[in-house]
Amino acid sequence: MSSFFSRKPIAALLAEGENPNGLKRALGAGDLIMLAIGAVIGAGIFGSIGSAAAGQIGPNGEVIRVGAGPALVLSFLLLGAACALAGLCYAELASMIPQAGSAYAYTYATLGELVAWIIGWDLILEYAVGNVAVAISWGDYFKSLVGDWIPIPDWLTTGYRTALLSSDPKIHGMLDSAPHVLGVPILVNVPAFAIVMFITWLLLRGVRESARANNIMVAVKLIVLAIFIFVGMQHINTANYHPFAPNGFKGIHQGAAIVFFAYIGFDAISTAAEETKNPQRNLPIGILGGLAICTVIYIVIGAVLTGMVPSQDLGKAADPLAYALKATGMNGIAKIVAFGAVFSMAAVLLVFQYGQPRIFYAMARDGLLPRWAAKVSGKSRVPYVTTMLTGVIVAVWSLIGDAGETYDLTNIGTLFAFALVCIGVIVLRYTDPDRPRPFRVPFVHVVGIAGALLCVFVMRGLPTLAWVRFGWWLLIGLALYFAYGYRNSTLRRGTGPVVVEPSKQ
Ligand code: ALA
Repeated sequence: MSSFFSRKPIAALLAEGENPNGLKRALGAGDLIMLAIGAVIGAGIFGSIGSAAAGQIGPNGEVIRVGAGPALVLSFLLLGAACALAGLCYAELASMIPQAGSAYAYTYATLGELVAWIIGWDLILEYAVGNVAVAISWGDYFKSLVGDWIPIPDWLTTGYRTALLSSDPKIHGMLDSAPHVLGVPILVNVPAFAIVMFITWLLLRGVRESARANNIMVAVKLIVLAIFIFVGMQHINTANYHPFAPNGFKGIHQGAAIVFFAYIGFDAISTAAEETKNPQRNLPIGILGGLAICTVIYIVIGAVLTGMVPSQDLGKAADPLAYALKATGMNGIAKIVAFGAVFSMAAVLLVFQYGQPRIFYAMARDGLLPRWAAKVSGKSRVPYVTTMLTGVIVAVWSLIGDAGETYDLTNIGTLFAFALVCIGVIVLRYTDPDRPRPFRVPFVHVVGIAGALLCVFVMRGLPTLAWVRFGWWLLIGLALYFAYGYRNSTLRRGTGPVVVEPSKQ
């Protein structure tokens, strides 16, 4: 029984990061802040903010969540606090254990193998499943951007599950009106599929090139959001701020639970630890700097958006920021914002498609996944097998999946990982008190416990279905662990990390 909780020595984790045939250190603090902003600002602020403000009704008229209204700014504040506490804990662990596996690796060192496996499995929800939602949202914005010039039939831009779950008769009706093959309606989201494959190709070219592409995308998103804020502020109608919190604290809470998606990603840069120069200094700067910048931007956008139009209208469109601009007569600016959204979400896709393979890579190195998953390309030094695998899985799911369905699942999985990281940082202070900590969380007991409790509190604002699906996901993960990882773990077998020679590619 105790072997489930065997912990990986930190010295071993650190040595793996120094393997000369491993990943290449190319990123500085500036790159990391840009990667964090690249990962954070995306579908959450451009898409899910609408449901957070207005609430959400299911296909049969059932209330899935109530909206925050203009009090959305308080939801953002609540999330900013929860993420800052978790971010501090991430910063301590990432600077102490700069290893590609991120929360998975930290948990291995603190809470043992079984919990580490659960976290590794759970992070698939954050990275890969989260990217399905972002890719589909990207496809929606792409269509609204180019739709006037390039008419694409709806059945090539709508996933099967989106049609199935929609309460809009026009979209649901596509189950009948789409072309059929052997009685099955062909409903595929080709733009979502294509963008994921393109990003995968970019990542296979190497990390330095990917970071450069990310910097351009981040610059575009910041400019576009600045335009939105500047123009939107001039069209605020203060009457829209009343009532401020139409559903009281329940609305703020449930709104926070969905718009949490907008915050996910500041932690993703911890997966770049083995490719970061001077990670002890640069990782905390990247994580906390990126988070602080995004929190300020969100609070301002929340305040401007809910001042422009009545909050309950924001649930009507998949593109609430562009909707608010159009509703106040600024169609041209709305197109510019849609253009920025396409860029922003491409950056999110890039960082998440970057993070997921590195977690698989770390797990394979520990023997918890098959050894082919630890293969690194000799030329670009990218974990190319897992990069391709992630690309294909996310692309295919995006082809037929539904964005709304994946937001909640991503949020619950990520909040769970955050809570465990908050606990892990305290545990490690006891189990390994003397190890140098280039960054130390101040008042660690207060920060760690409050961070974990706040994350669980936000989780409680999610619908029951998300909890049920999460439970199933964990059960499947446990079954896989006992079927494979338990028998092949290098720690349990007493062998060193799996070493796979770089391939010739
Ligand atoms: N925070 C990321 C987004 O909003 C996942 O797209």
